[in-house]
Amino acid sequence: MSLSDCKLLSLNELTDERGKLAYLETNDVVPFDIARIYYLYDVPKKSSRGAHAHKKLEQIMIAISGSFDVKLNDGENESIFHLRRPNEGLYIGREIWRDIYNFSEDGVCLVLASLHYTEDDYIRKYDDFIKYIES
Ligand code: TYD
Repeated sequence: MSLSDCKLLSLNELTDERGKLAYLETNDVVPFDIARIYYLYDVPKKSSRGAHAHKKLEQIMIAISGSFDVKLNDGENESIFHLRRPNEGLYIGREIWRDIYNFSEDGVCLVLASLHYTEDDYIRKYDDFIKYIES
């Protein structure tokens, strides 16, 4: 998978005088069956998360509160996405290295994931990632 497959998705949003409601459904905005949901929060300002790639996992990341940045790398190119609105989601395909950082104090990164957690799906060293995508 390449960086060009990773993109910001506009979520369905309903607005009226009571406020806003955003939603996502599998096979509508979400291009996979959701197997798992997790979220990162209370991340110290100078801390960063990620620093790994996944072999098979696909994800959508949403700044459900506050903001953070996501740097994606496919072994050749790099892109930085600034997530700061709860009505957009960053789709990340398989075999993409990611770093998540620059969390605001109230930053919450909600993640929709295509697979259950398994450490076997992780590539945690950048050199191993390059070898994996070249093989
Ligand atoms: P990791 O995915 O490395 O966190 P991040 O990319 O946000 O820095 O996961 C950190 C730890 O949490 C690791 O020991 C695996 C565990 N974990 C689970 O048990 N279940 C999960 O769904 C996730 C995402 C992580």
